[in-house]
Amino acid sequence: MSVEAALLQRHSVREYSGDPVTLAELSQLLWAAQGITHSRDMRTAPSAGALYPLELYVVAGRVDGLEKGLYRYRIGDHDLLEVSREDLQEELAAAALAQDCVADAAAVIVVAGVVERTAVKYGERALRYVHMEVGAVAQNVYLQAAALGLGTVYVGAFRDARIKQVLRMPDPEDPFAILPVGRPQ
Ligand SMILES: Cc1cc2nc3c(=O)[nH]c(=O)nc-3n(C[C@H](O)[C@H](O)[C@H](O)COP(=O)(O)O)c2cc1C
Repeated sequence: MSVEAALLQRHSVREYSGDPVTLAELSQLLWAAQGITHSRDMRTAPSAGALYPLELYVVAGRVDGLEKGLYRYRIGDHDLLEVSREDLQEELAAAALAQDCVADAAAVIVVAGVVERTAVKYGERALRYVHMEVGAVAQNVYLQAAALGLGTVYVGAFRDARIKQVLRMPDPEDPFAILPVGRPQ
């Protein structure tokens, strides 16, 4: 699919069929979000000063080839680190103001970030820059989902402290966006 066609197809999808996504599809979405590109240090989304403050989590519900649970995407290795085999999707949805799209998704990608990484160079503009970077990541995921025939929605309404707890985020990290993914109904 061309970029133009993906842009034309892009829209928010909040209702999913209940069918699983494959590990290859999830892998492709994660790569689109923050994958390594032409050199060891460069990624699919731009980053202020190439300081790369963002981290990705996955709550896998129905992913063929992946156990239910919580994972961290290891960007440099393009693999998933298992954090927990617990089914955290309902808790995650509750922390996102009980939005059904989070509860019903086949998998949920959570974009987190460490603002201090960017603040080292940009001081008080860092938080603004991190939000800008999250927007680029979300659009990448939307376009990749469109190209794969999958649906996603950029969820910004959630309780930060509760998301941090549910996903066991280390202290310097904060959640910035939730991207549920599934097959459109
Ligand atoms: C910053 C931001 C936060 C959003 N938060 C939510 C959300 O919490 N829940 C939701 O269902 N949609 C959310 N959306 C999606 C918008 O509702 C959606 O993009 C808008 O209705 C336009 O529709 P489209 O994406 O299909 O073009 C958010 C979008 C943005 C950019």
